[in-house]
Amino acid sequence: MTFTPTRILIFGGTGTIGSYITTSLLRAQPRFPQITLFTSPGTAEKKASQIAKWKSDGLSVIVGDLTSSADVKSAYQSSQADTVISAVGRGGLQHQIELLRLAEESNTVQWFLPSEYGTDIEHNDKSPDEKPHQLKLKVRKYIRAELRRVKVTYVVTGPYFDMWVDTAPGLESAGGFKPEEKKAWIIEDGEGKIGFCTMWDVGKFVVGTLRHPEESFGKALKVQSFIVSPNEVLAEYEKQTGAKWEVTKTPLDDLKSLETDLWEKGNPRATSATLRRIWAEGGTLYEKNDNDVLNVEGLDSLADAVKHALVGGYKADTF
Ligand SMILES: NC(=O)c1ccc[n+]([C@@H]2O[C@H](COP(=O)([O-])OP(=O)(O)OC[C@H]3O[C@@H](n4cnc5c(N)ncnc54)[C@H](OP(=O)(O)O)[C@@H]3O)[C@@H](O)[C@H]2O)c1
Repeated sequence: MTFTPTRILIFGGTGTIGSYITTSLLRAQPRFPQITLFTSPGTAEKKASQIAKWKSDGLSVIVGDLTSSADVKSAYQSSQADTVISAVGRGGLQHQIELLRLAEESNTVQWFLPSEYGTDIEHNDKSPDEKPHQLKLKVRKYIRAELRRVKVTYVVTGPYFDMWVDTAPGLESAGGFKPEEKKAWIIEDGEGKIGFCTMWDVGKFVVGTLRHPEESFGKALKVQSFIVSPNEVLAEYEKQTGAKWEVTKTPLDDLKSLETDLWEKGNPRATSATLRRIWAEGGTLYEKNDNDVLNVEGLDSLADAVKHALVGGYKADTF
């Protein structure tokens, strides 16, 4: 019999990308019969008004500690979830192994989407050694070794355009755009293409994945809103702002030195420097992506994404 997700349970659904996923699931038409959020007591308090809004849109909520096996087991039981979506943050990635173990043990969970929504962690022979990939690789290793009953799909989206365009204060040379100063920082000659996803499109692709269970089971789906070069992004900013921008180019080798330095100093921004280097090196390019598998309509264009960035971007989004 064909499987259709009916009762969905989300971990990390209050987070940066989780908020787009939760909102997209709640807005999906036709509606999913049951969507439940598992959230921590701290977030339940801190984001009470957002959670109340989602509840009025049909969300059920379970408050618990995702590092407590008893809480997770009880959430699987009370929600009778057949599909679990994890969007936990980097600090919570390792806890997914227990979430997966309990899912396999449950009688109800059939399908699990681990927290990925980013760079392809099995792209090439350098991927196994990239520091930011280690915990996600560990989760995939556990899944391959231990999961027999539960099906898994990884939604691999590449960089969020919304975040990639932002410069990090003091780390401008790693890349980004500052509309208020009409300044851009670009790696190398800016011609190397990058496959991006906008954050709203991540939500659309997760919904699209749930609509295509059989085609998605066991796969790492590479999905992208658009594939463009930094120079094309710059041209779009210049067009939409009607001005010529000042451009600083960072050689790839300088980005690599910055990356090494940040790791050596234990600076948490090292992760972002490594990912920006991987993206600049072509780590989001495929002979063919998996957009066709999901057949998602209404994806954002580069013009849409720059327009959105110019009015405040993801930081101004409401759910
Ligand atoms: N492609 C890109 O450009 C890009 C950018 C950023 C992130 N990502 C990926 O997206 C995924 C989610 O990241 P995010 O930045 O959206 O996450 P986040 O906002 O840091 O956290 C998401 C949620 O995870 C839950 N959580 C529970 N225990 C946690 C723990 N120990 N540490 C951290 N979070 C915990 C929290 O929800 P509750 O309190 O409600 O339980 C939190 O709100 C990750 O896999 C990340 O690598 C990709």
